[in-house]
Amino acid sequence: VSEFHSGDQLAGKSVVISAGGTREALDPVRYLGNRSSGKQGVALAKAAASQGAHVTLLAGAMDIQAPTHHNITVVRIESTQELLDAVMQHAPHKDALIMAAAVADFRPASVTNEKIKKEDDAAAPTIVLEQTEDVLRTSVERRATGQPLPRVIIGFAAETGDEEISPLEYGRAKLQRKGCEILVVNEVGVGKVFGQDDNDVTILFANGREEISVQGSKDVVAKAIIEQLALALA
Ligand code: CTP
Ligand code: CA
Repeated sequence: VSEFHSGDQLAGKSVVISAGGTREALDPVRYLGNRSSGKQGVALAKAAASQGAHVTLLAGAMDIQAPTHHNITVVRIESTQELLDAVMQHAPHKDALIMAAAVADFRPASVTNEKIKKEDDAAAPTIVLEQTEDVLRTSVERRATGQPLPRVIIGFAAETGDEEISPLEYGRAKLQRKGCEILVVNEVGVGKVFGQDDNDVTILFANGREEISVQGSKDVVAKAIIEQLALALA
């Protein structure tokens, strides 16, 4: 696409990017998923590759095709556990990890081997959930214990505000909690962000660098994030 002018901002760097949504199995045919389109993660992968990075794209469920580009290696993942395993396999010794995937917070506590049946007069089943592992936080924590995980870890946060607290304030608190270097915050609501082509984000930095807000297509947003990544790695 014409938005991606090639350059060498990330020449010689390798970046792992997660994109799309996770799916958590309930039985062999059903899962709990989310509405992530994968567009922002794919735009990031293309923007990074066009700046000379080697990209490993950890792709969950997406509305769009995974990109084909000589600098992008695509690894398909389904569940949060598979994503965590893929991050731990591919991210060591890389320069950056960007967690653009919409990762499930909860999964069914048990998965049945047979399809759940409906019976005429039996009550509907109750689905018990348990928390998934937080891939982003686990990455930051394991790096702190000496594992060779990327020096720049970027998270995304989809935030809604309420009467007292703005989406951005929730984002700033999340940056602290997650312990990553950069957090990209976007405001979500019905019809906002998920599946849309445009995005409106604020880039927050743990090192006190001034917040940057970016409006535009997901390609424009991706380019701005990749530029900030290149600065952070310089
Ligand atoms: N994330 C993750 N593993 C999870 C959940 C989220 O790695 N199990 C990552 C996402 O990829 C994203 C960041 O954490 O980069 C923030 O996700 P978000 O859903 O906004 O934050 P949560 O910590 O899950 O908090 P909440 O959903 O309650 O706002
Ligand atoms: Ca979440």
